[in-house]
Amino acid sequence: MKQQTAPTPRFVQHELPAASAVRAELLAGLRETPPRMAPKFLYDALGSRLFDAITELPEYYPTRTEAAILERHGADMARQVPAGAVMIDLGAGSCAKAARLFPVLQPSAYVPVDISVDYLRDTLAVLQQRHPDLPMLGLGMDFSQRFALGAAASQWLHDRALADQPRCVFYPGSSIGNFTPDEALALLCQAREMCAAGGPGGGLLIGVDRVKPREVLEPAYDDALGVTAAFNRNLLLHVNRLLGSDFSPAAWQHVGLFNAELSRIEMHLQALGPQTVRWPGGERHFAAGERLHTENSYKWEPHDFQGLLQEAGFDKARHWTDDRAWFSVFWAAA
Ligand code: AVI
Repeated sequence: MKQQTAPTPRFVQHELPAASAVRAELLAGLRETPPRMAPKFLYDALGSRLFDAITELPEYYPTRTEAAILERHGADMARQVPAGAVMIDLGAGSCAKAARLFPVLQPSAYVPVDISVDYLRDTLAVLQQRHPDLPMLGLGMDFSQRFALGAAASQWLHDRALADQPRCVFYPGSSIGNFTPDEALALLCQAREMCAAGGPGGGLLIGVDRVKPREVLEPAYDDALGVTAAFNRNLLLHVNRLLGSDFSPAAWQHVGLFNAELSRIEMHLQALGPQTVRWPGGERHFAAGERLHTENSYKWEPHDFQGLLQEAGFDKARHWTDDRAWFSVFWAAA
């Protein structure tokens, strides 16, 4: 009798940056005026858990607002996204948002992307059991640097006769807001190329947070429980491990403010008192009140985001929003 084999997802890891390159990036940021650190350093194991907790906070509206839009308009979205598309999920994490869309979008394959496949292994194994007929490939890469499937993932698609299927790049969560407009444009250009490399009809399904009153925005990034403050300060513990530095999180205050001119939330860590931070081979003095810039979260007007999509080479774009018009999910045809 023929034995039924349990489906197993494939995993491909692109090369991670060397420790020396990460240290060089951190030191370059520390030397800038004002000093800054890239928001990716917010996400070590604890930082990722703290971010999950943020999404449950009453003040942090983006996650639940986007989920409601996807739930309410999923069927309409499915009329734009071609059935049988290869779904490429950027920054997939728990894969939960994409999995909720499987029944309506009916993808032919699922390719979640995260910086490390280790974040995807357990989740994808469980998801594969639930969807045994959906081929799944977990891809580890830093798509904020370079966004390309690479030879192994392309071969995997080819082996399953999926290379010419349309591609749907799914980028939920308004993470595009964590890039400057120039960086966002570069990422969207790469996403378009990725879509255009598949069969006709592909495109980008992307969550975008919108401009709204300061009274709503600032508490979302400076909550009453202090979870966002812990998320921000935890970056220092992560940096200590990467750099061998001696930042003391208790000596820094979380700042989350809306910069209306630049249409972005800014997160900073502000030195509570004068202090010298040391690491092997160097040190830096911080004056009391000096700030370390840790994250931007741009808020977009739909019209401006449409313009950015067009600049990136996308064709027609449309979007769905919630009753308060706080968040939009865009579909842009490649
Ligand atoms: C992941 N990203 C979309 C979040 C945001 O809203 O910009 C990160 C975050 N930072 C503070 N709270 C949440």
